[in-house]
Amino acid sequence: MGEGKVGLASLKGRHFVDALDFSPAEYDLLFSLAERIVESPEEFAACCSGKLIATLFYEPSTRTRLSFEAAMLRLGGKVITVADASTSSVAKGESLADTIRTVAGYADLIVLRHPKEGAARLAALYSPVPLINGGDGAREHPTQTLTDLFTIKRSKGRLDDLTVAFCGDLRYGRTVHSLIRALALREAIRFILISPVELRLPEVIKEEIRSANPKIELLETEDLEVGLAEADVLYMTRIQKERFFNEEDYIRLRDSYVLTRGKLEGAKGDLLVMHPLPRVTEISPEVDEDPRAVYFQQARYGMFVRMALIATLLGVV
Ligand code: NCD
Repeated sequence: MGEGKVGLASLKGRHFVDALDFSPAEYDLLFSLAERIVESPEEFAACCSGKLIATLFYEPSTRTRLSFEAAMLRLGGKVITVADASTSSVAKGESLADTIRTVAGYADLIVLRHPKEGAARLAALYSPVPLINGGDGAREHPTQTLTDLFTIKRSKGRLDDLTVAFCGDLRYGRTVHSLIRALALREAIRFILISPVELRLPEVIKEEIRSANPKIELLETEDLEVGLAEADVLYMTRIQKERFFNEEDYIRLRDSYVLTRGKLEGAKGDLLVMHPLPRVTEISPEVDEDPRAVYFQQARYGMFVRMALIATLLGVV
């Protein structure tokens, strides 16, 4: 496997907790591998035989958990899972540290989703096997970033020289927090941040982006149409109901943006409309027929990049 092997080998055994745990060059290596898996899945169908991963999901999930499990099964490996904290010893008061040390005795890799920010970092401290953050509260979701960047790369052929508009809940949306920090490390990137004032991207993330890349252009607006006209990528997000402190605020803000076919008329012909899913009301179903809507394809790509990630962290490629 030539040069690729040298680079990928440096990822073996590592944790993936924060989108910046891997460098842009390491992301690119994973994308090359994911591309090979898309092209010739049969070559990889047994590469994880004899290996087992554990998925511990203490928050609701469809795509992240099932795409990890599908990924491992398609690599010829096995999966054990906790899909509901109330059925595990968490309900008896077990600490995360104890759970992780126990599960690491059973599995070769752990994927954790947890409602508390920072839970994955703590878990990684106790895990002798690679620990992947499948989302920790409103903070980070690095494997969604892998999915999102792979989708952009496959569709546009590049990850630089892009105007990327993020729309919706930029305050609590962890997929935005991870993706925007990883994208900021690429060349000639412009961000348009579209949200209600109350749901703006946290200041600390803006500062981090600016200090990582002083040339970055960042425009904030409440107007979806403004952002749409110039965007190469429109990243829509769900208003994160479960992170709100009161129901009234959620109800007031939940329908702030609805992308319709009419609104897309003013957008570029080669725009990519992305969404990590699940969608609620922010993209009207009529948009699904537009060739620029790639969110279901994006969800499928998530499985292939996770195949690449698992195989790499386990050191089997
Ligand atoms: C996202 C998440 O869980 O943060 N979903 C996903 O993993 N694809 C987005 C969301 O829940 O809105």
